Amino acid sequence: MAIQAVVFDAYGTLFDVYSIGALAEQLYPGQGAAISVMWRDKQIDYTRLISLSDPHTLEGSQYYLSFWDITRRALEYTLERLKLDAQPAHIDALMGQYAKLTAFPENLGVLQALKRQGITTAILSNGNREMLQTAVQSAGMTECLDHVISVDTIRRFKTSPESYGLVQHTIPVSDRTNVLFVSSNGWDALGATWYGFTTLWVNRQHLPFETIGPRPTHMGHDLSKVLDIVKG
Ligand code: LAC
Repeated sequence: MAIQAVVFDAYGTLFDVYSIGALAEQLYPGQGAAISVMWRDKQIDYTRLISLSDPHTLEGSQYYLSFWDITRRALEYTLERLKLDAQPAHIDALMGQYAKLTAFPENLGVLQALKRQGITTAILSNGNREMLQTAVQSAGMTECLDHVISVDTIRRFKTSPESYGLVQHTIPVSDRTNVLFVSSNGWDALGATWYGFTTLWVNRQHLPFETIGPRPTHMGHDLSKVLDIVKG
């Protein structure tokens, strides 16, 4: 199956959402790992709570918040839940770090190799445009990505079919199966597989895959697996 475009999830796949653990540990000794895990879980939880509850009337989404706002609220919840001192200066510092998350080491090289092969590359993310632009720029990936697609334009989060549909609105491909969608998040790999993309689940943490739905088309442990798939 000829892959015409490779589309990446952003947070967790290109950018390491747990890399804020070190700063969190510095600010709240002994709690860094707990903060980064609960923060991520609550952030995704809020996207789903909004998606499931939103009546989506003709006026549009009623409860939508940008992913940046959700991320901040999820951090506030986490600090309160762990009974930590939610000082505004600490929240600002952690959010500042979140804006410029560390990219996984092999990622830039994989993106550059795809561009050399003339393959269309993109991000499809729940992140809003501003936060994605900042993250892409600080990781030095601007030149290697043809499109940065944000669900913010339709105010519907992944894993809604409308969110995955944004890829074909942006990139002309013959068929959904000609898109290789790459995510380290099992839930996102499943959503994209259900949607009909060819999928790669990058299982960096050696986790079990979701126990509902179909398996992703491909599995690997880091992003370099993309290059094997595209080679065919
Ligand atoms: C993304 C997050 C949710 O869409 O991983 O980038």
